[in-house]
Amino acid sequence: MEQVFTSQLKDYIGKEVTLKGWVANLRSSGKIYFLEFRDGAGFTQVVVNQKEVEESSWQAVQQVTIESSIIAEGVVSKHPKKEEYELQTKILTLVGKAEEYPIGKKEHGPDFLLDNRHLWLRSPKQWAIQRVRNTIINATYEFLNSQGFIKFDSPILTPTSCEGTTTLFEIDYFGEPAYLTQSGQLYLEAAIASLGRVFDFGPVFRAEKSKTRRHLTEFWMMDAEAAFVEHEENLKIQEELISFIVARTLEINKKELEILERDTKPLENVKPPFYRITHAEAVKKLREQGSDIGEMDDLGADDETVLTQMYDKPIFVEKYPAAVKAFYMKRDPSDPTRVLNADLLAHEGYGEIIGGSQREDNYNELLARMKEHKLPIEPFQWYLDTRKFGSVPHSGFGYGLERIVAWICGLKHIRESIPFPRLINRLRP
Ligand code: 4AD
Ligand code: MG
Repeated sequence: MEQVFTSQLKDYIGKEVTLKGWVANLRSSGKIYFLEFRDGAGFTQVVVNQKEVEESSWQAVQQVTIESSIIAEGVVSKHPKKEEYELQTKILTLVGKAEEYPIGKKEHGPDFLLDNRHLWLRSPKQWAIQRVRNTIINATYEFLNSQGFIKFDSPILTPTSCEGTTTLFEIDYFGEPAYLTQSGQLYLEAAIASLGRVFDFGPVFRAEKSKTRRHLTEFWMMDAEAAFVEHEENLKIQEELISFIVARTLEINKKELEILERDTKPLENVKPPFYRITHAEAVKKLREQGSDIGEMDDLGADDETVLTQMYDKPIFVEKYPAAVKAFYMKRDPSDPTRVLNADLLAHEGYGEIIGGSQREDNYNELLARMKEHKLPIEPFQWYLDTRKFGSVPHSGFGYGLERIVAWICGLKHIRESIPFPRLINRLRP
């Protein structure tokens, strides 16, 4: 019998197939077993009727427990009304009998579930989240490749910081200090003079002391960088990328979003152009809402929540005060206290998903900024070099994959958006 996945059953109605997978749940009326079956690709019901199977299969099904692995061979039938299929089993084989499964139908606390993350990943919601994550990754590659961006792999072990020195993980690199990367951006800035448009995609690390629903210590970032792209065009690339990702998810992951009980209306609205407001306007709006944010303050997580609930699609907040942003951002020529940057905030209270900016491309200006930020010049000399040999205006941005997964899936906390979350108080499993 041909081995198929549950996602293919619609093409096999009335035919004999073999399914291999796990039993998520089961019930029995004595003479007949109904197994809730899953195989990674999807779910289906496997029916084992004593009258239709040999004694060995009947013995096997009586041994089946929740999360046991099985092979079921039989005939596919379709639910008379719904888009659901069923296997009328002829032969059932028990592959691995599961011990009593610790995750039940009852509510578990987050710590218990995170301690059992290796098992929790099997639950339908966790299955759905990882599949949406996969779509977002693929859509990102697809979109960027279509726009001429070349995948370029930035290093993970670095001699310097990229996003400030307070959140660095330091390691001992053969007797010298080294750091786990916070972002591959600086390396991409070197790469554009070779490839024009580049992106990286990989794990980055922040020794964040923040215990919020938005922070991980290890997360996946996609940094993109493009030569001859200035501030305005940088925003256009971002809104098109995010719109493409959301559209792909809505197209490919209907079932997953249903399992996640995600209201898809707000996602259907994610189309260019996104809203654009300046930092100064954002502060004004927030103060009207009762926030005590200062005129030159960074937006806090609560500010972002309040602000993004006022809009029905993502919002760019542009031109932050230079003092609260990274050293490499280019100053706004019309107001040198501010930079040509934008944070992209997801609506529905989610907040920042992208940070980006035009970069300082003048050697002396950049050097002055680095001195202001008290950065050591010698280990950054290679980066300064890029401004000596054919410097060009350029811009880029970085997205946090888990922030986007959490938003698209409608998750309350970022920890479920990554397979094995690393948080300030969690390194296991
Ligand atoms: O805003 P950030 O710090 O920007 C950079 O690192 C730039 N070098 C990117 C660039 O221009 N190439 O981080 C980028 C994004 C944020 O918008 C957020 O989505 C995510 O990374 N992020 C985090 N996600 C999870 N946990 C954390 N602790 C995060 N810190 C940032
Ligand atoms: Mg940021």
